[in-house]
Amino acid sequence: MARVVVAEPLADAGLDLLRAAGHDIDIRNRLSADDLRRTIVGAHGLIVRSATQVDAELLAAGESLVVVGRAGVGLDNVDVAAASERGVIVCNAPYSNVVSAAEMTVALMLALARHVPQAHQALAEGRWERGNWGGMEICRKTVGILGLGRVGRLVAQRIAPFDVALIAYDPYVSAESARAAGVDMVSFEELLEMSDIITLHMPRTAETADLLGAENLAKCRPHALIVNTARGGILDEAAAAVALEECRLGGVAVDVYASEPATDSPLFGRPDVVATPHLGASTTEAQDRAGTQIAEQVNLALAGDPVPYAVNA
Ligand code: MLT
Repeated sequence: MARVVVAEPLADAGLDLLRAAGHDIDIRNRLSADDLRRTIVGAHGLIVRSATQVDAELLAAGESLVVVGRAGVGLDNVDVAAASERGVIVCNAPYSNVVSAAEMTVALMLALARHVPQAHQALAEGRWERGNWGGMEICRKTVGILGLGRVGRLVAQRIAPFDVALIAYDPYVSAESARAAGVDMVSFEELLEMSDIITLHMPRTAETADLLGAENLAKCRPHALIVNTARGGILDEAAAAVALEECRLGGVAVDVYASEPATDSPLFGRPDVVATPHLGASTTEAQDRAGTQIAEQVNLALAGDPVPYAVNA
């Protein structure tokens, strides 16, 4: 019997699959790093979401670890190289929450364009501010997608019926494959200069960190709206706040932050910002899928079978 430490909330359906495979499930939601290092000793599996840092130190403490499962997509909180060095399989649930992330993106785009949260808040506080919240139509605007992977494509599909022009920048996607999705590939500079709305769908890596910093934000159209549901740290929050303050950007919607949990981003409290606390994957459907998909992968790894969603097999 293997012991699997579940370090963050996991859907019951996933926990049931692990138990059905005969594993001992050790549920330890959100321990401190020190406590997790103590708990991981002797464990064979570890399951996390995005709040747990699976670093080289934790992996060294977990000398019996066979597999680390990420119940979600992003792996920026897992040191995959350190895991590989130790022969620990890292797997994720790459399709589990992409629809939820795309729907959240569209929700934020519309909320930002029409100031829905701000107007709601004013009314909830007893103020009828009909004159304050004039918005922008999405129709006939150019939507620039930074990263035309799984989520970027789902966003394109969902926003296309609004009668928009879709352009994208993604060095890993061919113009033909983009065209088949109804999207024209452009250079990064062109995307910044042409877009009325920019939406981010790329992982945070050394190349994408602060990609939308002061210099590149200065190339955006002054009325442009930026939506970030991908990862914090790609859009520089401080630089975006300055650009908004100087009327060089129209608005920003953010679901993800350079440091999470975030309670004091320079974007918070601005009337031209819509901010949510990393809710892109927070739907019942996505969480069920993430829980079951990662439990299946972890069960396979612990049985010594091939793991389809291993990223370092
Ligand atoms: C993901 O990478 O899967 C999403 O951002 C959701 C999460 O972090 O759990």
